[in-house]
Amino acid sequence: MSKVSYKNLLLKKNKSPITCLTAYSKPIANLLDGKVDLILVGDSVGTTLYGMKNTRGVTLEMMKNHGKAVVRNTKYSMSIVDMPYNTYRNKKEALGNAKELIASTKADFIKIETDKKNIEIVKYLSDNKIKVVSHIGVTPQKFSDFKKIKSVGKESKDADDLLYLATELEKVGSKFIVMECINEKVANKITNILSIPTIGIGSSKHCDGQVLVIDDILNFNSKIKKPKFVKNFANIEISISVAINNFVRSVKKRKFPLRKHSYK
Ligand code: KIV
Repeated sequence: MSKVSYKNLLLKKNKSPITCLTAYSKPIANLLDGKVDLILVGDSVGTTLYGMKNTRGVTLEMMKNHGKAVVRNTKYSMSIVDMPYNTYRNKKEALGNAKELIASTKADFIKIETDKKNIEIVKYLSDNKIKVVSHIGVTPQKFSDFKKIKSVGKESKDADDLLYLATELEKVGSKFIVMECINEKVANKITNILSIPTIGIGSSKHCDGQVLVIDDILNFNSKIKKPKFVKNFANIEISISVAINNFVRSVKKRKFPLRKHSYK
């Protein structure tokens, strides 16, 4: 098996869907590597792993640490690391932090949440050889309360704005566009107009690829209410609960540890 290249992924456009899942740790990176095209170290780490209310408390240090753990254990898939909130407010800050994040994680791409105000930042990063993934539509760093998140693009003005944004982002050098919770027709139109791949999350099947948070597909953190676009592909909490109950029962009944688990 050889490492996925950006050229491979460009060739998949309009042919074969691109797959992407999040990872924040070595064991998950090991499981995903070579099975998905792209591994995203998302700032969803804040809500998913650290129990934060939103992603705004995620720091560059956190992304560096999780990024390092993942990329170090990824040989075949390509990797993307999120730039956290307030780390790309102007060109200079964005470039300094993007360089730092790439130098310490060795990720293939960085991802930033984009609107028309920071197209210039994407251009500046691209001009300075940073490979950028732009995240448009619903951009979670704008929300302090995830319950307020609604899909976008239904109104024709919003649809036009999204179309303009996506085409400008391609022009200034974005390598992929992640589209979150964008109306189906608009997602389809953007995907057809662009030559770079679109990766959807809650943006219908009309995207060149799909991304989800790994904990969501495993139904981990099941007590947290999930958006409509999430599908459970497994029920990991059941397996974990069985293991915990078996451990507790075995210890209480003195069935664990046995001699083979002890040192003489
Ligand atoms: O942070 C994240 O995991 C993301 C995906 C949900 C697209 O940005």
